[in-house]
Order: sequence, then structure tokens, then C-alpha cells
Amino acid sequence: MKDAVVLNQEETNSLITISNPPVNALSHEVRKGLMKAINDSLEDPGIETLAIIGSGKFFSAGADIQEFGKPSQGPQLPEICNLIESSRKPVFALINGTALGGGLELALSAHFRIAVPSAKIGLPEIHLGLLPGSGGTQRLPRIIGAEKALEMMLNGNPVSAQVGLSYGVIDWVDETGDLTVSARGIIQEVLEEKQSFTATRERTEGLQDEGGNRNAIEDQRIVWGKKAKGLYSPFQIIDCVKNALSLPFQEGLQFERESFNRCLESPQRKGLIHAFFAERRCKKIHEIRDAQPRKLETLAVLGGGTMGGGITVAALDAGLNVVMIERDEASLDKGRTNVEKVYDRHISKGRMSSDEKQKILSRYHPTTDFEKVSSADMVIEAVFEEMEVKKDVFRKLDQCVRPGTVLASNTSYLDIDQIASTTSRPQDVLGLHFFSPANIMKLLEIVVPSRLSDDALATGFALANRMGKVPVRAGNSDGFIGNRILGAYAKVAGYMMEDGTSPYRIDEAVRDFGYPIGPFQMFDLAGGDIGWANRKRNAESRDPQERYVHVADRICERGWFGQKTGRGFYLYEENSRNGFEDPEVLAIIDEERSKKEIRIRDYDPEEIIRRYLGAMVNEGAKVLGEKVARCPSDIDAVQLYGYGFPRFRGGPMKYADMYGIDRILQDIQEFSEEDPFFWKPSELLQDLVSKGQTFDDLNLQ
Ligand code: 3HC
Ligand code: NAI
Repeated sequence: MKDAVVLNQEETNSLITISNPPVNALSHEVRKGLMKAINDSLEDPGIETLAIIGSGKFFSAGADIQEFGKPSQGPQLPEICNLIESSRKPVFALINGTALGGGLELALSAHFRIAVPSAKIGLPEIHLGLLPGSGGTQRLPRIIGAEKALEMMLNGNPVSAQVGLSYGVIDWVDETGDLTVSARGIIQEVLEEKQSFTATRERTEGLQDEGGNRNAIEDQRIVWGKKAKGLYSPFQIIDCVKNALSLPFQEGLQFERESFNRCLESPQRKGLIHAFFAERRCKKIHEIRDAQPRKLETLAVLGGGTMGGGITVAALDAGLNVVMIERDEASLDKGRTNVEKVYDRHISKGRMSSDEKQKILSRYHPTTDFEKVSSADMVIEAVFEEMEVKKDVFRKLDQCVRPGTVLASNTSYLDIDQIASTTSRPQDVLGLHFFSPANIMKLLEIVVPSRLSDDALATGFALANRMGKVPVRAGNSDGFIGNRILGAYAKVAGYMMEDGTSPYRIDEAVRDFGYPIGPFQMFDLAGGDIGWANRKRNAESRDPQERYVHVADRICERGWFGQKTGRGFYLYEENSRNGFEDPEVLAIIDEERSKKEIRIRDYDPEEIIRRYLGAMVNEGAKVLGEKVARCPSDIDAVQLYGYGFPRFRGGPMKYADMYGIDRILQDIQEFSEEDPFFWKPSELLQDLVSKGQTFDDLNLQ
């Protein structure tokens, strides 16, 4: 095994290189190596200076996230930072690339920081439910003041080397193109001029503006009071920075350590780190490991409606040429408007110039000439959700496109095998299920019908990658992963409403759980007509044992389709997305309850969530058992990136593990006493409980 830290002596300088690909995470091996290299250099009388650098494109992405939650092994990063800072020989951080979290904290404990222009520096711990725990909350404010330090820690986004320089975090940006050579010059200068150097803990520039610092703390408390939505670590960060301003360094450091440990133990940290790995795991698809994606430069999009417009923008933004095909000029005009209005909004917000818009639109080719699909490397169909319409389109495509063109359907529910079977090339046909608005939502379900070839599948994943989407492999089942699970918890929301709980209280409980909006707000946003059409389509095949709630149909019968008609479950003022409770909707619900002689029950928020999540997890387990999803974390990724599941809870399957899958099963069994048809426990769930396992045990490594 290669050494994770390499020490090279260059005249009187020790060059210490962190070499732990791919991102130089500060694993146990790295920490051990750093400690030894630094101690050796400090003890060596021939060494006058130390320089720490990363190998490859990263300085270091920070602590090794895989180690969190496992027994920790010394030396710890704070010890290494303290050792660096207290060195009597000057220590230089040569920031050769990205420096994040503990990586930046390591650099902050050095006496000088030299960065390449492309370097990015940041403290993203907040995204993992953590705070900078190796002195970052104490050292950074001493250099740059509370306002900027809080900005870096609370938005978690990295800044460029130039911005770092302007803040005073970076001392030099190397413009020569050879960091080690220019560092040698700077190190020499420091030595020759016997330039004094100050330990970061002794620095005070950032502490001078006491009033400004106090205001920054109070401002952020107010901001996060409004936007935290249950998040824990932002307030811990604010408290740490406040203490950096008022406590002696050592006490502040101690407070930071205690706060860090509290965050580390919190379920939010577990949820957020699970989400981090879920997002990466779903991209590792065993079956296409050796497959080459096909060429992809020109995409044809069929349909310029809600989805076709959004997919077109996502593709243009990814640098592709897009041919948009509509059935007539009037529809094409609407399609064109759907695309242009996205860019016009960017312009009105000052995010884009008219020239940039024109440049992008030069790759956009709207047409009503179907034959133009022949220029495409891939076609995505986003026409009406009707099997016969889709089949007709795919038959025509089969006649017109070149061999090897990948053909995708954006259908929400329909059987992709059936669609593929209308062509002479089922190996090229797959499902690419985008979410609305398609240019914004990160989820892309990649639906794999039975005869799809590996390289066509690889092309779907390559498209997702170019678009910056989170791709999740899904089996060809009604509603795939996401809409199928949505079907289950949407039903349970309807049952609770009919049982006696107002839709507004259900939405409130779901929001309090951490969702941005509740299920009834979501129906109003998506448009009630889509679900209504689907229910009508499925009416004949519905099992008579299934409980059916008519409230949504009664609302749709009145033409109330949600936000777009100004009325749905909520009442909307003109051109407003803010809905109000509607007494007429409550009257409709009451009428339905009376018809069925329902014994009214007003569920409390805890029970609402038990039922809502119980339905979600049970259906998720069924989806897993049927191998529609590869592993539990893929389901979590779908819910996180497509349906607004609160990230700090990790996703429904992770939530179930943390809540206890035995408790979930007990809940389902309790509810099944009133409705055994709906609350039929998943076999896989029962199996896991009987074996004492968790969903996490089924996650692919
Ligand atoms: N620890 C362990 N593994 C890490 C890691 C980390 N800090 N950061 C990234 N990785 C792994 C990823 O899981 C991935 O592994 P895989 O190839 O097996 O899937 C691999 O490195 C490459 O990562 P990405 O696919 O994400 O590569 P990108 O180039 O797109 O992004 C990145 C690189 C910007 C570094 C991104 O991975 C990232 O944001 N990482 C997290 C950084 C972070 O949050 N650091 C703070 C850690 S907490 C901390 O330092 C606490 C301290 O205060 C004490
Ligand atoms: P829409 O009604 O907004 O747009 C459909 C467009 O297809 C219309 O502009 C119509 O003129 C055009 N069209 C119909 N037949 C055509 C043909 N033969 N050739 C070319 N164009 C044709 O519908 P929407 O919402 O965009 O949905 C499209 C597809 O995407 C459906 O399959 C739907 O289930 C799916 N979908 C919808 C989502 C949503 O939130 N709206 C989310 C994910 C998928």
C-alpha cells in the first residue's frame, strides 16, 4: 500500500504531501502520517520550514466521512492543527486544489497559505449536519471577522482562491502555474527577511469590529430562526462563532469540540451523510461498468408542453443541440414560449444577458417537421400520457431515426416494454422519467425495460451526468419507484382526511416533519386533473376491496384543478401561489364522510406521520422486494431529489432504520386491523424484522 503521506526534504524545507486519492480525505492513515511527518520535521535540526500540499487536484476534501459513527482512532485532526499552529518553524499550506472542511482547517492552522488560482476553499460541514470541528469556527473569525466566517460556514459553498485572497484567508495566489516553485520563492523570502509569523489563534484582525461582529451573529440568528426548519447544526455554528469572539481560544476550542460531538451524534448527521452517499451510490451501475455510452450531441424532444419545455432547457443548459418537435404551429409556439420564458426570467433577475440567451438558443431548433428526428442521437418523447398516442409516436420514430439512436419515453406510469415492442429496436428503448420543472428538479429515473442494451442504458446515465441530475435505475413497474410510492402515501393522506382530519392539518404535520409542502398543497401545485385522469383510467381495474376516497374527484368535477385554476384543496387569490383554507372544500369532505357514515377521528401530528411514513416505507419495501429498486438508498435518493423528502432525515428507508423497522412493522400491523387490504405488510419488511436486520444491510457497497 502506498503511503498516505509522503515526506520529502528539499534543502531546509520539508514538503509533506497528502496522497489519499480520490480527494485526499483525512483518514486515520493520513492523520497518522501527518503527525509523524510534522513531528519528524520539527525535530530535525536541518529543517527550517514545513510545507503541506495535496497530490492530484485536491488539497484535501476534509475529514473522511466514512469514519463518522465508527470508533475514532487517534491522532485526531484538532491535535494535528494545534501542532502545526504551535510550530516554531513556519508552516505553509500549499493549496493546490480544493480545500474543504478539515482540509481548510488544516490550512488555517498553518502560518501562511498559498493557493493556485483554480483552488476552491470552503467549510461545507453544515451540509452534513456538522460544524467545522478542528478549530475552524475559532480560527477563521480571528482572520476574517464573524460576518464572512459565518457566511462561509452557514451557506457551506466554497469560494474561489481570489475571493479567499480578498477575505484574507489566502495570503498569495500563485499565478506562475507552478505552485511548488513559486512557494519555494515565497518560503525563501520569509526566511531571508526573517518575516515574523503569528499563530492564527493570536491573530486579531477579524475581532476588531466588535459591533459589526455582534450584529453579524444576531442577524444570522434571525435568518436561521426563519429558515432552519428543524436543522440543528446552524445554531451550533452561530454559538461557536459567538464564543470565538468572547472566549479565550482554548475555551472556544473546547466549546467547538463539544458542539461538534453533539452534531456527530445527532440523527440529522446520520441522515445527511446517508444522503451524501445515496446520491453517489445510485450512479454506480454494475451492469454498465464496461459499457460505452453512445455519441450524444443532438437530442430531439417530442412535445413542447410542461415537460418537453423543461427537458429542452435542461439539455440546452448541458450544451446539447435540441430539436423540439410539436404537432402543429400553435403548440410549437407554446413550446417555444415555455423555453424562452426560462431564459427571460434569468435575464430579468440579472443572471444572464440577452446575448447569452441568443447564444444558447442558437442550439435550439423548434419544428413541426417530424422527419427532423433523423438528425438526433437520442429522442425523448414527452407527448400526452396515453398509450395509443405513445405507441403511434414510437412506430413513426422507428421509421425515421438512424440506427443506434436511443429512444426514450418520459411517461409517468406507462409500460415501457409495451412502448418498445412497437419498434423494431427494443434494445434502444428506455424510460427517462424527469420531474417537473425538468430543468430544475435533480431526479431522473432511468427505467430499464427487459430488452434494453447496456450501451443504451449507459447513454441514459451519461445524459443524466451531463445534465447534473441524480440518476436512479428503476424497474419497469407501474409508476416506477417514485410515483408508485407516492400513490401509497397519497392514498393514506386521503384516508386520514376522510377519517376526520382536515387536509390543512395533514399538510401542516407533513411540513413540520420537514417537507417544503404537504400532500394537498402538492396536488394543487401539480394540477388535480392529471391524477383525476389517471384515477378514471384505472377505475375499471380497481379492486373492489380497495377503499376509495371521492373527495379529490368531487373537487375536480367542479373544475378546481389547483393553482392553475385558482382553486383546488386551497383557495388562491389571483396570480398568487399562497393558498387559503377553503370552507367549501371542508363542506365537500363532510358530505363524503356523512355518506359513508364515518366515525370521525382527528389524528394528532404524530399519528399523521406514523401513517404517512408507514405507507411510504411499506410500499418502498415492496418496490425493493420486487427489485424495481436496486437498494434502499436508491429509494431514498428518489424521495429526496424528486419528492421533497427532508434531507436531514436521509430518506424514508433511512428514516425507517432510525425509527426502528420493527416499530414500522408494528404500526402497519396496528393499522391493518382497520384496513387489511391497504395495510398489507411487505414480505421483505417482515423478513428483515425477523432476522434483526435493517434496510441499510441491503445497501450495495
Ligand atoms: N470523505 C470520504 N470520502 C469522500 C469525501 C470525504 N470527505 N469527499 C468525497 N469522498 C468520496 C466520494 O464518496 C466519492 O467516492 P466514490 O468514488 O466511491 O463514489 C469520491 O470521493 C469522489 O467524490 P465525488 O464523486 O463527490 O467527486 P466530485 O469531484 O464531484 O466532488 C467533492 C468532490 C467536492 C470533494 C465532494 O465529494 C464533496 O463535497 N465532498 C464532501 C466534502 C465535505 O463535506 N467535507 C467536509 C467533511 S466533514 C469535516 O471535514 C469535519 C471537520 O470539520 C472536522
Ligand atoms: P403537456 O400536455 O403539457 O404537453 C404535451 C405536449 O405534447 C403538448 O404540447 C402536445 O401538443 C404535444 N404532443 C401531443 N402529441 C404529439 C405528437 N404526436 N407529436 C408531437 N407533440 C405532441 O404534458 P406534460 O405534462 O408535458 O406531460 C408529457 C409527458 O410527461 C406525459 O407522458 C406525462 O405523464 C409525463 N410527465 C409529466 C409530468 C408533469 O409533472 N407534468 C412529470 C413527469 C412526467
